[in-house]
Amino acid sequence: MDHFLYRDGILHAENVPLPQIAAAVGTPFYVYSTATLTRHFRLFDEALAGTDHLVCFAIKANSNVAVLKVLGDLGAGMDVVSIGEYHRARAAGVPGERIVFSGVGKTRDELRTALEGGIRQFNVESEPELRAISEIAAGMGVVAPIALRVNPDVDARTHEKIATGKSENKFGIPIARAREVYAEAARLPGISVVGVDVHIGSQLTELAPFRAAFTKVAELTQALRADGHQITRLDLGGGLGIPYTRSNETPPLPVDYGRMIVETLGDLGCEIEIEPGRLIAGNAGLLVASVIWMKSGEGRDFMILDAAMNDLVRPSMYGAHHDIVPVHEPLPGLEPAPVDIVGPVCETGDTFARQRPMPPLAPGDLVAFRSAGAYGAVMASEYNSRPLIPEVLVHEDHFAVIRARPSYEEMLARDTIPEWMA
Ligand code: LLP
Repeated sequence: MDHFLYRDGILHAENVPLPQIAAAVGTPFYVYSTATLTRHFRLFDEALAGTDHLVCFAIKANSNVAVLKVLGDLGAGMDVVSIGEYHRARAAGVPGERIVFSGVGKTRDELRTALEGGIRQFNVESEPELRAISEIAAGMGVVAPIALRVNPDVDARTHEKIATGKSENKFGIPIARAREVYAEAARLPGISVVGVDVHIGSQLTELAPFRAAFTKVAELTQALRADGHQITRLDLGGGLGIPYTRSNETPPLPVDYGRMIVETLGDLGCEIEIEPGRLIAGNAGLLVASVIWMKSGEGRDFMILDAAMNDLVRPSMYGAHHDIVPVHEPLPGLEPAPVDIVGPVCETGDTFARQRPMPPLAPGDLVAFRSAGAYGAVMASEYNSRPLIPEVLVHEDHFAVIRARPSYEEMLARDTIPEWMA
């Protein structure tokens, strides 16, 4: 459920009509709903009520500091994968003790900065990383809390580019070697072993792969305890999928996911950490664009928008489906007709949808991409010298620009001409 509904024939974000935002900031833009973000965070928090837990929002899904503050103020922790994301979490007021640091390639500088600033736990993905953390922490005279990310060799049954839990993927330490690496961790100075971490992929639409991975984590935890390690936390990663179409997709609900976690891991008495990104932010955001031209081609019509693959790359990168709806509800009796919905970027891959039935629209009309709050703005680029588009946050009947559209002067000011050409 989200808070983007038609009222009097006009699509609203909470109580704000989208044309009002479009008039104020221009198109294209991203818009997020505070109420939907809040609701989705609470679904996870309540799914684990009764179990000691921390819901750490995966910042990679949506890293706007205002969005992070909405969640941080509700008590969310944060999962970061770069020191840039760490700075964003801190800027949103989230303390280090609620930030976990994941990622397969943390640099020494990043490790040091996180240790200086305070960190809840590093999710360690290799022996060299483990040794570097030990060296840096011991040198600073501090102890780094760590969990090892294990690779359980489980097929997440999702898009191959976002599956991470198979042995051929670059992520984690093979679960078969985990005891050996935990033994080394226990011997290293500056390291405190606190838990086990796993993340098998994103946009999972069934619980079975999670259950398979968590069952392996439960077995490993028992073995590690028998080896003498204090395992007090289990970080289960993110990955619960969302419905991208309003019709037939019904991924499992957070409450069922929570129940399955308790079933598979509840007996261990560990604190549970989860790292959802997409389910919290995805359906809490829209991308709003305008029609530039309608164009008739050979046997097909094109709807050319002012948003492009550089603003929302998911359709061209993963062949992902996003529902695209008119902001003004079509009058009854207007038949939808199939169109290719494209952006202005100079490649054929800049296609959002092929032969999508759409009501008749004209230049200047607004459309909204649903499910664009996660992996939307964060993956945008300035390809074709198209400045990054603004982000807007709605709260009831207010809205605020939470990232402004840069001017062309600002965009150009980042480049410099070397002295020898001046
Ligand atoms: N934790 C770790 C260690 C992760 O790598 C990820 C996502 C998450 C948590 C959050 O997963 P979520 O709950 O959002 O599924 N750009 C792709 C998605 C990449 C996901 C990468 N890792 C897309 O647009 O579909």
